[in-house]
Amino acid sequence: MEEAKRIQSLPPYLFARIDEKITAAKAKGVDVISLGIGDPDRPTPEHIIRKLAEEAYNPANHRYPSYVGMPEYRQAVSDYYQRRFNVELDGKKEVVALIGSKEGIAHIAWCYLNPGDIALVPDPGYPVYSVGVMLAGAESYRMPLLEENGFLPDFDIIPADVAARAKLMFLNYPNNPTGATADAAFYSKAIAFAKKYDIIICHDAAYQEIYFDGYKPISFLEVEGAKDVGIEFGSMSKTYNMTGWRAGWAVGNARVIEALGRIKSNVDSGIFQAVQAAAVAGLLGSQDCVAEMRAVYRERRDFVIDGLNAMGWNLKKTLATIYVWPRVPAGFTSSSFAELVLEKAGVVITPGNGYGECGEGYFRISLTVPTERLLEALDRMRASLGRLKF
Ligand code: MLT
Repeated sequence: MEEAKRIQSLPPYLFARIDEKITAAKAKGVDVISLGIGDPDRPTPEHIIRKLAEEAYNPANHRYPSYVGMPEYRQAVSDYYQRRFNVELDGKKEVVALIGSKEGIAHIAWCYLNPGDIALVPDPGYPVYSVGVMLAGAESYRMPLLEENGFLPDFDIIPADVAARAKLMFLNYPNNPTGATADAAFYSKAIAFAKKYDIIICHDAAYQEIYFDGYKPISFLEVEGAKDVGIEFGSMSKTYNMTGWRAGWAVGNARVIEALGRIKSNVDSGIFQAVQAAAVAGLLGSQDCVAEMRAVYRERRDFVIDGLNAMGWNLKKTLATIYVWPRVPAGFTSSSFAELVLEKAGVVITPGNGYGECGEGYFRISLTVPTERLLEALDRMRASLGRLKF
């Protein structure tokens, strides 16, 4: 049973590996607090669940769904873009439903990459970008996201021969794992670079509704020329606490959206229609639940950053996302620090090198555990890690 070459070097998913560590620690009797995966702990808002329950009884929803998404779902996504970003989208041609944005991010590589082609991926970055590229038989060129550049890639240092072979570029703001944000001037630079080298931009905007302190992310599609060169991925997962429901979308350039829909109609059968109807209720209903979610994460962010700063870190408050991305203390690697924190405090953090070489020297804390557990995790770290040097 020899595996295909394309998966021989494919490791288990980062969070599957972390789950193994959690299971092993729990088996030893440790009361593990996982600040690992970004998986919201709070329930999906009541009105969305109610809509799912109602629609689950409708036999029309028990059949195959529309491959690219129900018209009502695609229209709701386009209404959301109009309301939130003043971006006009044709629900029929510029929106495709995804079974969570993760699958679209993986499948887009199949649409545009041949062996020998290059995709530009951020480092550190969500592992699915480079895995999709690898499964398509192409190569990833890693764009370093450095703290001194605000965790934005520097397009000027990408060699011209690499840019000439590149077909796709993944960007992601607000950023996982760093929590960094991007503005219109940055997206304009990306668009000019993409136009010069004929590259499709795939902007992952999964965290665009999680923002604090008066900051509000813009959409990549708001920027002039964006629709000529790219698409944006979005998701119900983090905004409405719906990671398990698998409902997302890609929007933007009609040709790219059509290609993604064509791949998908051949390999999957779309999202359960009752889930789509519930997502429509989320997108078009009251957004008070989203404001509440932001208030909860802002409070947790403050606890984590103030708590770590009291232990010797010197972190600024992040303006968006559910992540905090500190450097490891002196004398540690990402992995050795994550191991120490698990061993001494029973707390799981994600080692930064799981997001790429440039993540080495950092770790990620996810704010998606109940606040009292988060505070307990910080207490345990304070009590058990001893004096740390920075
Ligand atoms: C993360 O923790 O980086 C994400 O939640 C993982 C995912 O979306 O698979």
